[in-house]
Amino acid sequence: MLKISVIGTGYVGLITGVGFALKGHEVVCIDNNKEKVEMINNKQPPIFEEGLQEAMNKVVLSKLSASSDLRKAVLDSDVSFICVGTPCSEEGKCDLTAVESVSKEIAFALKEKKAFHVVVVKSTVVPSTTEKVVLPLLEGNSGKKLGEFGLCMNPETLREGFALQDFLNPDRVILGLKHDETKKVMEKVYENFSSPKFFCGFSEAEMIKYASNSLLATKISFINEVGNICKKLGIDTYTVSKGVGLDKRISPFFLNAGLGFGGSCFPKDVSALISKGKELGVKTLLLDSVMEVNELQPKVFLDLIKSKTELKGKKVGVLGLAFKGGTDDIRESRSIPVIKMLLDEQAVILAHDPKAEENMKKEFPEISYADSAQQTIDSSEIILILTDWNEFSSLDFKDKLVFDARNILKNKPVNYEGLSW
Ligand code: UGA
Repeated sequence: MLKISVIGTGYVGLITGVGFALKGHEVVCIDNNKEKVEMINNKQPPIFEEGLQEAMNKVVLSKLSASSDLRKAVLDSDVSFICVGTPCSEEGKCDLTAVESVSKEIAFALKEKKAFHVVVVKSTVVPSTTEKVVLPLLEGNSGKKLGEFGLCMNPETLREGFALQDFLNPDRVILGLKHDETKKVMEKVYENFSSPKFFCGFSEAEMIKYASNSLLATKISFINEVGNICKKLGIDTYTVSKGVGLDKRISPFFLNAGLGFGGSCFPKDVSALISKGKELGVKTLLLDSVMEVNELQPKVFLDLIKSKTELKGKKVGVLGLAFKGGTDDIRESRSIPVIKMLLDEQAVILAHDPKAEENMKKEFPEISYADSAQQTIDSSEIILILTDWNEFSSLDFKDKLVFDARNILKNKPVNYEGLSW
């Protein structure tokens, strides 16, 4: 077993740390946010994620600890994972400030270290960042050449809501690296993972992550466009998706039509790839359209609602605020543009989400929030389902008019309108 330091305790960092500890490694999680460090050491998950609490109860103290001392963590471990955020700027560019400063700090520690150490970039970074940004910072500030230390690009493919499960059993582990010694260390890191390991170069590993997320986002926008046509023709899009997905070359996944994709990954990653293409003078017609279809979908939903009912002064129950079920994350949630448009139409909103209400209160303090889904239904004139929470699937909607943007209802209520089916 190895000693692993994980730098950054956001979504990916925390799950990486807890996941490796569950696999038997000794892990230290590093964050300069002292509050988070304390929470982790007290076995309190700073984010909501299925199974995380139980996993932390198991590994914190025995296999995992948190600290703010990056230098010591690098000196005391065999491998350091960079898991800091790479937010998207206004123009869609990937912001590397945190990756750069952490790379420098790691390099200062490497300068003092005799033993071979591998630095792993897990943060999502645009192709060529590991080679052109991280490597020069590591070499320049440690006084060592690649080979005297190891470097690997190992993108993360976990989904929020299934994060631990995805981390522990990924479809594949992508490892972009150059030297045999680094390969041996990374094979040890992933020794207890039965998933296939795919070895390639730094930039290929970075591009695999962007291409995968962009292709999944493309499937979603594609089926939404098909769904919008189906709706006009009275065709059930979900039956179409099922039939299409039976073709092995296509697969049944990510063909659920609805309000579009949100979250901290797809919108950011597709935008960053578009931005990289533009920088290189490459036309990104397909990716531009993927984003355009996604932006349009909440408007298509509103037009559908307005074609059936007046919104001014109407009591509208909004079920679902998170960008998808199983998380409290509201980043780029498609419910945000929907709520904005409802407010513009002067609707009176009562919203409910099993986990994301506190986060949404910061975004929309002016709307009302209900304690339960049933209370939302009972107190509203029309109901909108915006997130695919399982608990919404078998509620009693009585004879209220329901607009469903996620197709999760087991039995369709009497007065029902699907967004694009
Ligand atoms: C996504 C990828 O699925 C992960 O593999 C990847 O590691 C992660 O991004 C990342 O880059 O870190 P995540 O953003 O957690 O994971 O969520 P998804 O389950 O992929 O859903 C993204 C959005 O697409 C959600 O808003 C969801 O509602 C929407 N979606 C998904 C659809 O509208 N239709 C579908 O068929 C599937």
